[in-house]
Amino acid sequence: MLTALTLTRFKSFSDTRNKLSLGQLSLIIGTNASGKSNLRDGLRFIHGISRGYSLAEVIGEKYIEGGVLQWKGIRGGVRETVLRNGGPQGTQFSLSVESILAVDNRKATYSITVDVGDKEHPPFVAAESLIVEGKGKFIFHTQPDGEDLNELPNQRKIFAQVRKEARAGFSGPKLDFRRDQPILSQICDHSETKKLPAAREYVTQFLQTIASIRFLDLEPPALRRPSIPGQTILGDKGENLSSVLQAICADKKRREALIEWTRELTPLDVIDFRFPDVSLEGKIQLQLVEAGGREISAESASDGTLRFLAFAAALLGTDPARCYFFEEMENGIHPNRAYLLIQLLKTATKDGTIQVIGTTHSPSLLNFLDDAALHDASLVYRADGKSKVRSFRDLPDLWKIHQTSSAGQLHSSGWFENAATFLEGDDQP
Ligand SMILES: Nc1ncnc2c1ncn2[C@@H]1O[C@H](COP(=O)(O)OP(=O)(O)OP(=O)(O)O)[C@@H](O)[C@H]1O
Ligand SMILES: [Mg+2]
Repeated sequence: MLTALTLTRFKSFSDTRNKLSLGQLSLIIGTNASGKSNLRDGLRFIHGISRGYSLAEVIGEKYIEGGVLQWKGIRGGVRETVLRNGGPQGTQFSLSVESILAVDNRKATYSITVDVGDKEHPPFVAAESLIVEGKGKFIFHTQPDGEDLNELPNQRKIFAQVRKEARAGFSGPKLDFRRDQPILSQICDHSETKKLPAAREYVTQFLQTIASIRFLDLEPPALRRPSIPGQTILGDKGENLSSVLQAICADKKRREALIEWTRELTPLDVIDFRFPDVSLEGKIQLQLVEAGGREISAESASDGTLRFLAFAAALLGTDPARCYFFEEMENGIHPNRAYLLIQLLKTATKDGTIQVIGTTHSPSLLNFLDDAALHDASLVYRADGKSKVRSFRDLPDLWKIHQTSSAGQLHSSGWFENAATFLEGDDQP
């Protein structure tokens, strides 16, 4: 589980450390252009590392054979990943992720500082480390004397000390790595680390944590498209919805739960789901069956119904990711049905195996958060033109004023922005 993401000089984020605390269900609010989607980009950057890409690929794009686009980079590309504030341009940004590792519940902290380079130099690693609580000072960390400036930019090496023993107090060898790719995704392939199983184990565990993050940006046309039975992973735009739902419906209890959610969300009297073949190559498409026998295909089901079913498919599916990031999650859901979305998210996250992070503009969603989820929500706002993050748990007045005003009312009135700006003064050194 991810417990925090810290951004420094990444996109619109300021040059102080901006820490986004994360819980099982973490909503992010903030005005337009405050930096919510930039947070998502930060998390996508970290996820891109787990795919073994070079920094240029993580930030730019990754194509595979046949010209198939496998990864869409970070919005704005290389130059705009680093803060632009009108003054002299810096070239480095830092991201750091804290997580609890699934295998032994230890806290791991991974940090990377990237130099975005220039026209002739691809982006490169300036500093990087992985620290696991109780396992000495580091699993690996870069050494400042690493750079050989005589080499061509993309052949330059960086040196990192990699932990030899799992016990505290033991150091390890200094190894060389490519500089244009995060060391995290190189360690297990480095021949010298065969002798360093503890380092490999923790690097692998951390990579698994950041690999299992999904970024869903649902689009109705993709939700409607027929899919092949057996495709049980929902695509980022909601592709494969029909076959994912079909797999869920194979389980009687889940099928009933899904029907119940749909009946509550919509005025339709849905009593069943069917998945008829709709093409010669065997593709199926969702069909909602109403009492009285009326059948509605995904083609003409409403956008909101499909979006809601996609949430359910992602979270209750047979093959869920460990962490989901949903953009503008209330899209298409009526305010007086917001409680259903929160209920669904609570149900999906309650046993601790799935984590949900989502941006929202909806006061109604906030109103249905319980105290735990309210603690884990955050505000993104601007101060001196740069983005900053403030966790709700660090707004002391919220817990007093919340007795009389709902979080949604406070959201609509701009109270959160005012409270965060007021606290700015306290943060000055
Ligand atoms: N490198 C950068 N330096 C400074 N500002 C940047 C940089 N890259 C992007 N921005 C700013 O970030 C803002 C966009 O932020 P973002 O997309 O995260 O907004 P948002 O909170 O998701 O808004 P919305 O609710 O409208 O989607 C833009 O105003 C843009 O100017
Ligand atoms: Mg946005």
